[in-house]
Amino acid sequence: MENLLRGWDGEHVVMRYDREAEAWIFVAVHSTRLGNATGGTRMKVYDTPADGLRDALRLAEGMTYKWAGIDFPMGGGKGVLALTRPLEPDERDRLLERYGELVETLAGGFGTGADLGVGPDLVKVIARETTHVYGTRGAGDPGPWTALGVFKAIEAAVEEVFEGPGLEGRTVLVQGLGDVGVPLCKRLWDVGARLKVTDADRGRAEGIASELDAEPVDADAAYDEPCDVFSPCAVGGVLNQFTIPRLACKAVAGAANNQLDTAEDAERLHARGILYAPDFISNAGGAIALCGMEGLSMTDDYVTAKTLSIRDTLKAIFKEARERSESPVHAADRLARQVLERGPA
Ligand code: PHE
Repeated sequence: MENLLRGWDGEHVVMRYDREAEAWIFVAVHSTRLGNATGGTRMKVYDTPADGLRDALRLAEGMTYKWAGIDFPMGGGKGVLALTRPLEPDERDRLLERYGELVETLAGGFGTGADLGVGPDLVKVIARETTHVYGTRGAGDPGPWTALGVFKAIEAAVEEVFEGPGLEGRTVLVQGLGDVGVPLCKRLWDVGARLKVTDADRGRAEGIASELDAEPVDADAAYDEPCDVFSPCAVGGVLNQFTIPRLACKAVAGAANNQLDTAEDAERLHARGILYAPDFISNAGGAIALCGMEGLSMTDDYVTAKTLSIRDTLKAIFKEARERSESPVHAADRLARQVLERGPA
């Protein structure tokens, strides 16, 4: 953990060991350059506390770029509840309440909301103890908003790699059928895309598949499965030196945070001729809706327009990448860095 903190370019981390739940709590504040640190809270079992901290650090950095990419006056932060074992519902709720108390002591220095393992119902449990929570005052579940943005990202990617626009008849493989994956599948189905679905829980994939006329794919086989667009909507790090050589798609556009395992993986995808829609641009819909509505008093219409504009942002990024023959990651990074250099609008 010492090495992780030494090698990190963020601001600070609040950590605590919660004895009752035998869980580690990390609140990572990566950058307050644009505003107060804001990001969801993730809860899952990690092999080691260091793995939880590593995730918190990377996710918080991703939030810095996500806020900059949409030019919102918010900073990069993330909470991670690193469990050492699965928890019963009541001890889980008590952990979330104690976490809420901790967030409250930060007095607005960190605001949080839903993320993997912490759905809208569990956000309400955190909100018993702190007001620094998004998702309980009108915006509700960010999942469908993230899905809308990712849908637009897939449209932009398909337009870039195929002649002619439209998703009808295109095959999209959605990995992860959770709060974002399911509403995304529905949108794709509505416009006549051919769906392949996969989830760590095979039964879940089969259930959604029969509902939406989709083809269920085994979790391990997903990387080899031919498709037009691969859409990672589960955990991070799925694009790596082992999976990229296996991919049989033209483009990757999904919701998961930190899809690339390392910076070189952007180059690996580029070398294989697979278009990558940078995650922090594609998956900003939830952040736009939550903090736009509940923090920045934006109307529903404005938030919708801003989420739809993810498509145009990506089209501009793809164009720049095409002209420079490089991965779209670089254009997206430049866009975010410009905003960070300029400071809050
Ligand atoms: N966790 C989601 C994300 O990474 C949604 C979220 C955004 C939650 C901002 C809280 C604050 O975008």
